[in-house]
Amino acid sequence: MLRDFLIFLSENDKARRFSMNAPGARSMARRFVAGETVDDGIAAAKALAEQGFGVSLDVLGESVKSREEARTAGDTYVTLLDRIASERMADGTPLREKVNVSLKLTQMGQDIHVDGSGDYDEAFLRENLGRVLDTASKHDIFVRFDMESSAYTQRTLDFFRSLWDAGVHNIGVVLQSYLRRTEADADMASSLGARVRLCKGAYKEPEDVAFQEKTAVDANYVHVMKRLLSDGTYPGIATHDEAMLEATKNYAREKSIPVSAYEFQMLYGVRRDLQHQLLKDGYNIRVYVPFGDAWYPYLMRRMAERPANLFFIVNAVLRESPLGGLFGKGRSNRT
Ligand code: FDA
Repeated sequence: MLRDFLIFLSENDKARRFSMNAPGARSMARRFVAGETVDDGIAAAKALAEQGFGVSLDVLGESVKSREEARTAGDTYVTLLDRIASERMADGTPLREKVNVSLKLTQMGQDIHVDGSGDYDEAFLRENLGRVLDTASKHDIFVRFDMESSAYTQRTLDFFRSLWDAGVHNIGVVLQSYLRRTEADADMASSLGARVRLCKGAYKEPEDVAFQEKTAVDANYVHVMKRLLSDGTYPGIATHDEAMLEATKNYAREKSIPVSAYEFQMLYGVRRDLQHQLLKDGYNIRVYVPFGDAWYPYLMRRMAERPANLFFIVNAVLRESPLGGLFGKGRSNRT
């Protein structure tokens, strides 16, 4: 299946090196990635926030294997949080009222192992992430831990729980409706009062842990969405699937749950038409805005979700070649 192959490529080092050096690679990434620097991320966040969107800024990076790289990622998040705290929108509103951050624990050290052992170095992760969380608390900015493949689900939730029990409450998790365990995890998060982002899940998972059929993933999405709307704390309903959006709006209406009790979330560059429509209809909508130079695996997962994106990407590459692209220059590549 093309989806499986694209997910395989997203994890393949040779393919990563080849693709990142290919001509036009950067411009193709720009469809889904706001740029490479903190300045780029802040500029994109400001533009969206000034239109009324919430934003979650993500510094791209994952599966980091060296402490130095993990510390650099931590430094970037500290810089980013300080910038969010010091910036204002055009009307003077502090940017932090609209903008929070998302991060991946394997970017912060969850994939770094204690020498000679199979265990990850939790003390290192705690220290590296600790300064990020301290900076976020100081500025009262919320931090979301993205969820990675099922190999990390339990350790991510355990780590999250240990922080929560220690009194760190400006954090939230992500749960994936393709995982069979998600209902139980959602109930756990609701019992804590922790905020959950619900998504379908973007990795290749085996049948014993994950539903394989779209209908089952969608049915579980609706099931868990209802539990989170009824019992959770300000859930983030993260999807571009119009059926999921309708199910959420209908359930909220049926149960008289106000629009202020939850938010929709979508990815930068994906279904901008829907993003604007939801905003216009009075819903809270947050756009997930990734930036940074480690865009390859993120981009490949976006291809896997919608292989038709490959067409736009190929065209972007051709546009920079002497052939000039299938549609010629200047055509918008809106979703
Ligand atoms: P689905 O895949 O069924 O798509 C429904 C429709 O949406 C498609 O028909 C198409 O129109 C549109 N669409 C979806 N993806 C598209 C794309 N890439 N390009 C263009 N159109 C597209 N996953 C994860 O495992 N861990 C995480 O932490 C997160 N975090 C996260 C945050 C936010 C804000 C969002 C929106 C998503 C995530 N995801 C994620 C990704 C998520 O798991 C899932 O892979 C994608 O959102 C695609 O699923 P949909 O719910 O959009 O439905």
